[in-house]
Amino acid sequence: MKKEQDVCILAHAYQGQEILEVADYMGDSYGLSVQASKSNCKGVIMCGVRFMAETCKVLSPEKKVWLANPTAGCPMAEQLDLESLRKLKAEHPGYAVVAYINTTSELKTECDVCVTSSSAVQICSKLDNDKILFIPDPNLGRFVAEKLPEKEFAFYKGGCPRHIIVSAKDVEKAKKAHPDALLLVHPECRQEVVELADYVGSTTGIMEYAKKSPNKEFIIGTENSIVEHLQFACPDKQFYPLSVMLTCMNMKITTLMDIYNCLKGTGGEVIELPENVMEGAGRCIHRMVELGG
Ligand code: 13P
Ligand code: SF4
Repeated sequence: MKKEQDVCILAHAYQGQEILEVADYMGDSYGLSVQASKSNCKGVIMCGVRFMAETCKVLSPEKKVWLANPTAGCPMAEQLDLESLRKLKAEHPGYAVVAYINTTSELKTECDVCVTSSSAVQICSKLDNDKILFIPDPNLGRFVAEKLPEKEFAFYKGGCPRHIIVSAKDVEKAKKAHPDALLLVHPECRQEVVELADYVGSTTGIMEYAKKSPNKEFIIGTENSIVEHLQFACPDKQFYPLSVMLTCMNMKITTLMDIYNCLKGTGGEVIELPENVMEGAGRCIHRMVELGG
């Protein structure tokens, strides 16, 4: 059906194995954005959360873009609305506003550039402005700030409700159980967890690191789908979740039936954005692609 209808299926790395089997591309938020703009097909089904489908639509206005399951949202993306952002900006005059891609496209219309976990350091380092207001995730923000001591950062008090669940205590417990394992974590984790990690990176960054590493055991500090995908990809290695609590139900809500229903025309949500949002968020997202490439 996807071939007949010239539709491409994009899946975030947190999707289940059964979704990856029908996907044309699997990646982190940055990879998905780039892939969305490169693909020549007429339609795209996004298996991920709403901000990913919106980013895809902004980068490919001529394509029909579905969010496979319309209830899949990212709670972090809803933490700041336009009014609160305007207030924050007024409190930080002269700061460049850098938005994590996990924000609504409406919010992006009033930000200078957006970043993903894999492109944030590079993009912030390329900005002319030495003062950066980083929204909404202070954990990713602090990770970037540590790499760029020459810049001054201000943060918002948001964050991923999943990743902040894990603490240094969980690390201590996991390392005790698996003393030879390397700890690989996402920068959305708390600073106390990031400080104990052997590698910090995006979802695909973590997967690439584990595949290439000569080490045989790994503790994974991000959504637990990554543990499953890595175990499939590297049967000779062992992968352990940092915590069983690291499950993003929003990412897990999409099923094969949702994809089938998009193709049948009976399900999913076709993303439509107002012209001013397409234009304003487009400026912010295109700048990310330009500076992140
Ligand atoms: P990545 O950009 O690493 O894929 O992260 C997206 C995300 O939502 C992590 O929680
Ligand atoms: Fe959003 Fe966190 Fe889920 Fe990622 S893991 S989609 S940041 S809630």
